[in-house]
Amino acid sequence: MTDAADMARRAADLIEQALGARRPVIGLAAGNTPRATYAELVRRHRTGGLRFDHAQYVLLDEYAGLPADHPACFRNDIIAALTSRVGVPAQAVHAPMCAADRLDVAARRYESLLAELGPRSIQVLGIGRNGHIGFNEPGTDWDSRTHVARLRPETRSDNAAAFAPDDVPTHAVTMGIATILEADRMLLLATGTSKARAIAATVDGPVDARTPASALQRHPDVTLLLDRDAARDVRGV
Ligand code: GLP
Repeated sequence: MTDAADMARRAADLIEQALGARRPVIGLAAGNTPRATYAELVRRHRTGGLRFDHAQYVLLDEYAGLPADHPACFRNDIIAALTSRVGVPAQAVHAPMCAADRLDVAARRYESLLAELGPRSIQVLGIGRNGHIGFNEPGTDWDSRTHVARLRPETRSDNAAAFAPDDVPTHAVTMGIATILEADRMLLLATGTSKARAIAATVDGPVDARTPASALQRHPDVTLLLDRDAARDVRGV
């Protein structure tokens, strides 16, 4: 449990460590929570010369049905917030195609690409208010690979700010839970009271498909960085 600046520094430390792998593949999450971490990485690049251009970057998920140049496409967002600022060419930033007309094909292609790129040294994760990771909504199979997901109403409303009212995507393509768990290390970031219930269920609850993030209990190397508000309902905090 920590404050926002400390959380960003500690998350950046773990990503910096993962960049030291021999052929680093870094799993990134879009969303608001990791923004401070990405800003800290940009700062380290500018002031300390931290290198990013030897790694490949893979996103957890992507909205479906948006034009490829839509600023809310997660890949475009990550390029703007992080990779273009740290000397990484856009070709090294991978996500499912947000403009694909065959989403099932886009999902299969992404899964094969992940296999080709090899093991991720770290996977950054946010968490949805309903406990989702990536866009694996409650009820998703533990064995799931990259697939097309229908977004729950609460997820659509949480993510609505980036869209005109009638344009909020209904579907996404997301790494499955089994795909996510293949990374060597998990780094889950959460801030704010809106995440408190999901975090408590993730940490203290059973491994239960109603809280997809509870799957992390089965991974041997998980770091949770939480602010006070997000940690508030965890037992013993
Ligand atoms: C979104 C995305 C996730 C993200 C999570 C939390 O719906 N699918 O990749 O990590 O929900 O988002 P935020 O950090 O904006 O709260």
